[in-house]
Amino acid sequence: MNIINGKQIQEEKIKDFSNQIESINDTIKLTVIQIGNNEASNVYIKNKQKICEKVGILFEHLKYDETNEEELIEKIEQLNTDRSVTGVLVQLPLPKEINEKKVIDAIDPLKDIDGLTTTNLGNLFSGNKGLVPCTALGVIEILKSINAPIEGSNVVIVGRSRLVGLPLSGLLLKENATVTTCHSKTKDLKEKTKEADILIVAIGKKQFIKEDYVKENAIVIDVGINREDGKLYGDCDFENIKNKCKAITPVPNGVGPLTITMLISNLIEAYNLQKKN
Ligand SMILES: NC(=O)c1ccc[n+]([C@@H]2O[C@H](COP(=O)([O-])OP(=O)(O)OC[C@H]3O[C@@H](n4cnc5c(N)ncnc54)[C@H](OP(=O)(O)O)[C@@H]3O)[C@@H](O)[C@H]2O)c1
Repeated sequence: MNIINGKQIQEEKIKDFSNQIESINDTIKLTVIQIGNNEASNVYIKNKQKICEKVGILFEHLKYDETNEEELIEKIEQLNTDRSVTGVLVQLPLPKEINEKKVIDAIDPLKDIDGLTTTNLGNLFSGNKGLVPCTALGVIEILKSINAPIEGSNVVIVGRSRLVGLPLSGLLLKENATVTTCHSKTKDLKEKTKEADILIVAIGKKQFIKEDYVKENAIVIDVGINREDGKLYGDCDFENIKNKCKAITPVPNGVGPLTITMLISNLIEAYNLQKKN
């Protein structure tokens, strides 16, 4: 059994991206918009700032105590036309009274660093160039870094969110995997996951996946982050399944470090896409 070291893969990727940024030799800037003072959002934004500063990307944090949908969309439209801004990211969740989808779709798809606009999701499934959610990209980086045989393999994804499961299914199809996507209405989930050469779990349910869900020698990627009493848990019961797996990501220090790192990849991609347009 191989415990995948997300931190180590992260370090290698950061070196690679730093070199790419150095050779671009131009200003790249990310603007993050935050509404309110959600504690988890504060931490995520700090981490984004840290990694941007580490690789020489300018970071701007626009924080509003409150706003309405119209004002927020107006601000996004200004950033869309501001040539000094490479990427725009609206930190989720937004207050309940604001329509998240409408706000996200106001972002210029070429600046959509989270890859969450309808246009970019469509780009992914129609084979066009575009920006893809960072966590999905991070999972692919992990699989490639351990030389997982993706092509032709049975990959089962549990979870179909726009943030993780859905874009992953598109990316893995592109890599010629045979993809099964499961969700809360899937019947006989265990029967599906037991067929997986590569099992990816993103459901947000602490230690849900046990040994009897996993095929002998499977590669297991646990995307889940569940907080309880100040501790983090994955969606997989790590101790229960680890000896059955060929390789497995721990939580923390598995997928998490790659998610934040792929923000840099998306900023480089956005810069290049904008240069071409
Ligand atoms: N490591 C990272 O960097 C990272 C990044 C993003 C998210 N996450 C974590 O990943 C997890 C998922 O995030 P998300 O944003 O994708 O969550 P989400 O939007 O809540 O989606 C959860 C998905 O899981 C499915 N699901 C829920 N319970 C299920 C069950 N018992 N059996 C089968 N499918 C089930 C849901 O099915 P339906 O569609 O039918 O409702 C849905 O598709 C969370 O723990 C989140 O914190 C981690």
